[in-house]
Amino acid sequence: MRLLVCGGAGFIGSNFVRIRVREFGDEVTVLDKLTYAGRRENLHDVAGEIRFVAGAIEDPIAVADAVTGCEAIVNFAAETHVDRSIAGPEAFLITNMQGTHVLLEAARERSLRYLQVSTDEVYGSIEEGSFTETSPLAPSSPYSATKTGADLLVSSYFHTYGLETVICRGSNSYGPYQYPEKLIPLMILNAFAGDRLPVYGDGRNVRNWLFVEDFGRGIGHVLAHGVPGEVYNCGGPDECENLTVVKRILELTGALESLIEYVTDRLGHDRRYSLSSQKLRALGWEAQVRFEAGLERTVNWYRDNERWWQPIRSGAYRDYYERHYSRALKG
Ligand code: NAD
Ligand code: TYD
Repeated sequence: MRLLVCGGAGFIGSNFVRIRVREFGDEVTVLDKLTYAGRRENLHDVAGEIRFVAGAIEDPIAVADAVTGCEAIVNFAAETHVDRSIAGPEAFLITNMQGTHVLLEAARERSLRYLQVSTDEVYGSIEEGSFTETSPLAPSSPYSATKTGADLLVSSYFHTYGLETVICRGSNSYGPYQYPEKLIPLMILNAFAGDRLPVYGDGRNVRNWLFVEDFGRGIGHVLAHGVPGEVYNCGGPDECENLTVVKRILELTGALESLIEYVTDRLGHDRRYSLSSQKLRALGWEAQVRFEAGLERTVNWYRDNERWWQPIRSGAYRDYYERHYSRALKG
């Protein structure tokens, strides 16, 4: 298939591109703005096999250039970090909502299949049980609210214009190439360095962990087999409290438990996410990697790939933050 993968230089997007090129022989064009989270290095091993366009999804000219010759659009491009969205929501509105609109228009003009990568966070928090695709949408943060807005816009293009859209909502993902602002890679790198591990609140919040390759394959499955207009949840096989995740990382890295530091809780912090993936399983997808094994693989990858994370830890990306997130930094 000839795919336009937006946000393909980020964490999940780059893992997805690798799978599509290597295992499916797809012809891939990546369109990516290369924010702090998007890096050409994430695609180093497939760079010769893809077309890369540096540009923003909210820029119709860049999108028109990138989409030429493609049969489908897969949209990963997003501002993704909840804490940044609390400190400064504007970038989230532009990329997650306006950008999605530009991509939908490009798909509509050319009658392309369109897959929106979305998140369990659109359903909000759940004390018990799991969300299905028909659960009410109740986002809590500016991040999840903009992802929800985008999902609704995608659905409207199916209902109004008959565009062939599908939405795939994943749970918390982890694995190689994840930017170390998210819980798991941040804790791994802090543990390696002997820095403090900041646990928000009481550390008892629960997340439903999905290995990145399982998510990539789930997205590919929805792209190939999903029914237009439908939503498919793609949840991980295991749920875990944050504190348990952090303690396991301490064991795997040999760091001391005294590094754990309880810090002020995140505003509006969702207590628990949990997805039912029955609908996607009925379509033939199954998660392959249990959390215990996936976490160990992830720790080993960060241990073996210091060249990838060194520039981030050393602050080479601070300039980018200061230019684009100055209000967030002051917040
Ligand atoms: P990420 O932050 O690692 O990567 C996002 C990518 O999008 C980067 O390459 C960035 O440069 C690019 N990007 C940002 N703004 C852009 C713009 N305006 N135009 C073009 N490119 C832009 O994110 P991720 O964790 O890989 O998440 C990818 C998608 O999956 C997002 O849509 C996110 O909402 C969704 N998702 C993530 C998770 C998770 O746990 N990480 C779980 C479920 C769903
Ligand atoms: P995160 O990786 O930011 O993903 P999300 O908020 O989208 O679920 O956070 C995962 C959980 O870890 C969440 O409950 C917040 C918590 N957390 C910490 O306790 N400390 C941290 O430094 C970070 C980044 C997150």
